[in-house]
Amino acid sequence: MQVLDQLLDQFNSELKDIHRVPDLLNLKSKYLGKQGPISEVMKGLKDATVEQKKEIGSKANILKNQIETILNTKMEELELKDINEALSKDKIDFSLTDSIRDLGLQAAGFHPVSIIQREIEDIFVSMGFEVLDGPHIEDEFHNFEALNIPDTHPARDMQDTFWFADKKHLLRTHTSTIQVRGMKERKPPFRFVGPGKVFRCERTDASHEMVFHQLEGMMVGENVSVGNLIYFMKTLLTEIFKKEVEVRLRPGFFPFVEPGFELDIKCLICGGKGCSVCKHVGWVELLPCGMVHPNVLKAGGIDPEKYNGFAFGLGLDRLVMMRYGIDDIRHIHGADLRFNSQFKSF
Ligand code: DAH
Repeated sequence: MQVLDQLLDQFNSELKDIHRVPDLLNLKSKYLGKQGPISEVMKGLKDATVEQKKEIGSKANILKNQIETILNTKMEELELKDINEALSKDKIDFSLTDSIRDLGLQAAGFHPVSIIQREIEDIFVSMGFEVLDGPHIEDEFHNFEALNIPDTHPARDMQDTFWFADKKHLLRTHTSTIQVRGMKERKPPFRFVGPGKVFRCERTDASHEMVFHQLEGMMVGENVSVGNLIYFMKTLLTEIFKKEVEVRLRPGFFPFVEPGFELDIKCLICGGKGCSVCKHVGWVELLPCGMVHPNVLKAGGIDPEKYNGFAFGLGLDRLVMMRYGIDDIRHIHGADLRFNSQFKSF
């Protein structure tokens, strides 16, 4: 009984000096643990009388509960203190980008082709188009045959296409391959775009690269018209350039469309006076397009008697060059960090 009488005072005085959670846990095990004074008293009751057991036992229990309550309150208090301390120390510093700049470090950015590509995807998604992907390595069927490109077409020339040694596979020369895969996987009506890298075995200059980027588009339904095509292309260009751009339509030949068109925009680099980008003609070929050829619909498993559609192939690199005033396409894959880090926005 004596031990128990003094225990609470002793506990309280030790508690006063405790300011950290681990110390509190130590104190808890010291008083309430198996080797602690209360357990010792209980063990000592083995040989006591029934009366003693009752009296001392209940006192020990009350004391144990009291100590437990005090410990719990203190624990809450200390934990709250820890949380508040952590919050004040670990708060997020939103000025970090400035400090990075102050330190002379470069923040990462998006490549201009990614910026444009995602912007265009957003525009088309808002007009109800899906965004599809397709493989870089293709076969003759998807790159040529299904697109109504005959064996004799110059696009099949060894000069233009990177063929694999098996002579069956190739690096896709255009994103039109995505048309074929897209048609096969869905039933009309549908509309989708398919962005990606394309590969041509070509000599490079200010406006030609061996690897560049296109965004294919296709819409198939029951009464799709040239008017629909022009509407979507105009909406696209106005959104991209955030202003009315001058455009012109010329007839264009592509085996997979009939009729086919070439949509040009007035060169935004030189304003039409002539420069290396527009090959000194003042206009830039930007958007080849047309009404999908019946053979192409057939190859994609679609009945050309019932359905028709339009398709287009947008060159993303030229668009980037127009938008940012870049006069040489070779900068785009030049891997020069001074070039890449200029485009941060999204
Ligand atoms: N695939 C063509 C190229 O790479 C571009 C193209 C032209 C795509 C007309 C089309 C189209 O969808 O209708 O040169």
